[in-house]
Amino acid sequence: MANVIVIGAQWGDEGKGKITDLLSASADVVVRYQGGVNAGHTIVVQNQTFKLHLIPSGILYPDTECIIGCGTVIDPQVLIGELDRLEQLNISTRNLLISENAHVTMPYHRLIDQASEERRGSYKIGTTKRGIGPTYADKSERTGIRVLDLMDSQGLRQQLQWTIAYKNVILEKLYNLPPLAPEQVIDQYLVYAERLRPHVVDTSLKIYDAIQKRRNILFEGAQGTLLDLDHGTYPYVTSSNPVAGGACVGAGVGPTMIDRVIGVAKAYTTRVGEGPFPTELDGELGEKLCDRGAEFGTTTGRQRRCGWFDAVIGRYAVRINGMDCLAITKLDVLDELAEINVCVAYEIDGLRCEDFPSNARRFARCRPIYKTLPGWQQSTVHCRSLEDLPQEALNYLKFLAELMKVPIAIVSLGASRDQTIIVEDPIHGPKRALLHANGKPASLEV
Ligand code: GDP
Ligand code: IMO
Ligand code: MG
Repeated sequence: MANVIVIGAQWGDEGKGKITDLLSASADVVVRYQGGVNAGHTIVVQNQTFKLHLIPSGILYPDTECIIGCGTVIDPQVLIGELDRLEQLNISTRNLLISENAHVTMPYHRLIDQASEERRGSYKIGTTKRGIGPTYADKSERTGIRVLDLMDSQGLRQQLQWTIAYKNVILEKLYNLPPLAPEQVIDQYLVYAERLRPHVVDTSLKIYDAIQKRRNILFEGAQGTLLDLDHGTYPYVTSSNPVAGGACVGAGVGPTMIDRVIGVAKAYTTRVGEGPFPTELDGELGEKLCDRGAEFGTTTGRQRRCGWFDAVIGRYAVRINGMDCLAITKLDVLDELAEINVCVAYEIDGLRCEDFPSNARRFARCRPIYKTLPGWQQSTVHCRSLEDLPQEALNYLKFLAELMKVPIAIVSLGASRDQTIIVEDPIHGPKRALLHANGKPASLEV
């Protein structure tokens, strides 16, 4: 039995969907613990592509229970669309459970997200405009609508009459937008409620029962460490806690129940939206990575900004998440390059800095210090073991592991399940974050 958290170690889109799907083969329960339909997790199985926004990436396994935890925010329209699409493909969704305490994204959240981004002008965050920030803001302000509110038609009617009248003032007076018609929104959400009702339960209790029965639980993070509300590049972050610590709060389990934390990082770096990005590549090379990596957002279709691997961020992600091992994805995207840069440290105001600066203003002034490694200039997409990899690719991976003092347990060389090298068992292997606390470099252990 092992309870494992999978988190993004960069700015999201690291390939968490692929890795979660892969590890779900040995999971009994997969739990999404934060975020909403801003997430876009892609799974490719036998040339079929699945894009999931809220449903956990374990859904393709018929006997795996999939849970949307209380730390998430749920846009029912998008969730129902996802459920319908999966059912059309004969993927059963009967094992999907939704927390009563998750908050619900309403039409005014989406409108306010869009309008406030426009109003911010050059200070915009570059959000997905899916209403995520405003939904979490209402949760904190204690004016949110929860799934359990949706289930009580009489109560919901009263609650929404008041809330929509209040939000209409904001829409009309602050943003010059037409008001919402309360009855229309209420009727629509009551239809959503009936569609979702069979899935709604006390998910924390379900997870606790599963732990008691010694079943394997996988906690699937959305977004990434640098998008974390508390630990990311604020204010250019999302409004939840994607870091491993967020899994306990967002699923409703105690920290003593967690056995492993697996980080997922691309072999380079991408970012969507605004905010500092020290290793960003402008020009031809950035375009090349974007083309080869098909770096367009799963949710919004926006082009992702591309850059070199940043090991300062990597070390930070290892620390903040207590990471035991890493899955490195998209190594194949670097296949054609003659030389590859890795950011080993930053220069800030003329001084070398090895650690991620917690001060966002300092971070915005960071300049990358690179080490250049030779590329391998041959295809790796068919490699299935470390022995199959060109020596330069192996050296690149070893260099990353040593820089971040964390072992690489999985290497991904393509979007599909089989394009993967399992270096060592990421779930049952030793707890490396502790073993390497003495600072000794970890290795790939070929
Ligand atoms: P997530 O949000 O972390 O789940 O990542 P996304 O699904 O948004 O983006 C990752 C993209 O890379 C998806 O299109 C995946 O199908 C694709 N992908 C995942 N792993 C690999 C890999 O090793 N190589 C390549 N070329 N593509 C990959
Ligand atoms: P997955 O789970 C990449 C980014 C947005 C924006 C910031 C805030 O697929 O890795 P929000 O709509 O959350 O208020 O936007 O966060 N962002 C993501 N970037 N992958 C994601 O999810 C993201 N979810 C949000 O682009 O910069
Ligand atoms: Mg994504």
